[in-house]
Amino acid sequence: MNSVIDAIKKRRSVRAYEPAPVSRESLDLIIEAGNEAPSAMNSQPWRFVVVQDPAAKKKLLRAALPNAKKILDLVKDSDPERHAAIMKRLEEQEDPVYYSAPAVIFVIGSGRYAEHSCPLGCENMMLAAHSLGLGSCWVGFGSMVADEPEIASLLDLQPQEKIYGPILIGRPKGYPDRPPKKTPVTKWV
Ligand SMILES: Cc1cc2nc3c(=O)[nH]c(=O)nc-3n(C[C@H](O)[C@H](O)[C@H](O)COP(=O)(O)O)c2cc1C
Repeated sequence: MNSVIDAIKKRRSVRAYEPAPVSRESLDLIIEAGNEAPSAMNSQPWRFVVVQDPAAKKKLLRAALPNAKKILDLVKDSDPERHAAIMKRLEEQEDPVYYSAPAVIFVIGSGRYAEHSCPLGCENMMLAAHSLGLGSCWVGFGSMVADEPEIASLLDLQPQEKIYGPILIGRPKGYPDRPPKKTPVTKWV
């Protein structure tokens, strides 16, 4: 099969990583792939922050976890089973947000085109990681850190900027099964 289609089909969200650091060469290639993404008006409205420092990752987790729990409370009544399952994971896992990934890449965007363009960079990065034998995961819960001044400063986050991803990168500890995917709903004209 064509290698791009193969990567698109085989990429999975990886939620368990080996602790070994990712090489600088791989991280550079992944960021270059993100940077090559299409963007509205070729605005390229993104920048990248790579977090590998264990102490910084601990701070991120401390900032994200309470916010993740608050968001989960919103589904408590509508989907109590899912709420209970995710809460259990949040209580029991050592790092239920960033899954102890060796590298966390924040894609930070600003301006009117960021919302549509930055996610394309994120997908490019995840496919590039897959092509290099690395796992990745977009962790929306991990983006809920901007209210913590220390983290905002760590990321040099400006008021007009928004976090996309972050994208976890690392060598996968096992590889997840493909989750159920719907068949495409398509109208042919
Ligand atoms: C915008 C967005 C936010 C996500 N946030 C999380 C997250 O916080 N935690 C997590 O474990 N997975 C997260 N994911 C991964 C999805 O759960 C995953 O893509 C989905 O279950 C399909 O699995 P696949 O990526 O292996 O095809 C997120 C994905 C996207 C696109």
